[in-house]
Amino acid sequence: MTTYDIALIGFGGVNRTLAELVATRGDELSRELGFGLRVVAITDLRLGSLVRDGGIDMDMALRINPADETFAAHGGSADPDNERVIRTCAADIICEATFTNPATGEPAASHVRWALEAGKSVCTTNKGPVALHGAELTGLAQRNGLHFEFEGAVMSGTPVIRFARQLFPGLNLNGFEGILNGTSNYVLGRMEEGLGFEESVREAQQRGYAEADPTADIDGHDVQLKVLIMANELLGAGLRLADVQRQGISALTPGDLSRAKNEGRRWKLVGSARRNPDGTVSASVAPAALPLDHGLAGVSRANNAVSFNTDLLGPVTVSGPGAGRVETAYALLSDIIAMHGARNQVAADA
Ligand code: HSE
Repeated sequence: MTTYDIALIGFGGVNRTLAELVATRGDELSRELGFGLRVVAITDLRLGSLVRDGGIDMDMALRINPADETFAAHGGSADPDNERVIRTCAADIICEATFTNPATGEPAASHVRWALEAGKSVCTTNKGPVALHGAELTGLAQRNGLHFEFEGAVMSGTPVIRFARQLFPGLNLNGFEGILNGTSNYVLGRMEEGLGFEESVREAQQRGYAEADPTADIDGHDVQLKVLIMANELLGAGLRLADVQRQGISALTPGDLSRAKNEGRRWKLVGSARRNPDGTVSASVAPAALPLDHGLAGVSRANNAVSFNTDLLGPVTVSGPGAGRVETAYALLSDIIAMHGARNQVAADA
């Protein structure tokens, strides 16, 4: 059976959960999927780096508390040394789940670039590298015969990007509209129930939905990146971040929400893109008071949904979780499964 050696870049909630899945469900997954996974390197800002060509003892790695010690106490280094580890470790696949600056895509974009230059495929949950450097990194992967997968960048493990790519050949995708940020959706829902804005944001943070800086959720930056990814990857739009108009929810008051409720409407933060008659694509993020029978009006709490506008099927909607450790770790697993499927397909075609 094939075993893929993987490196975990960033050992926070998402990659830790992937490691837990490998440790606890590895045998079951191998039986079901036809391949095994072995972690051969981990890097982390707080823990440092640990590289073991023969495989890292995951129980040991998961027991280490970053508040108490680093990998230096376990035969590794206190220095993450990301570039050296990514370029030189024995991994076939780099699972990238670090912090990213949404304005530059760094350092995640460099992590992806180093891996692809060194002959390693990449899956990432980071929006920055895909939104800001997607064409360059996809081109680099293709030129080097590698995979660059990023299902978790939009709606965590809920299959949106791969779903659209696989389902829609043969028809025209004219655009999409979606609720793509769980935090803002949760906040709007709680405010509609009568809770204050600050308290609603705090709750979203406590529940782990919000970005490290929740203004990215509230002001629409997070959705702007996701709209950019979907517009470029699914509509071939060739847009830049500044081309996606952005307005968040911070100007909405409890009064706006209750007025809308009385009128049979509900405020949602909607990210959308549409193909214009001249072939160009317009994209935006803005709050909208949707009628209650609108397909997105019933998407509640931290859930996400995207409705694709197709010519032959009309609207096709996918809904599911858009955030969460387990949900996002599953996105990485689904990326690896997709890479395995593509590899088998190439072997079958040869
Ligand atoms: N903070 C995001 C959200 C999750 O609330 O949807 C990751 O994109």
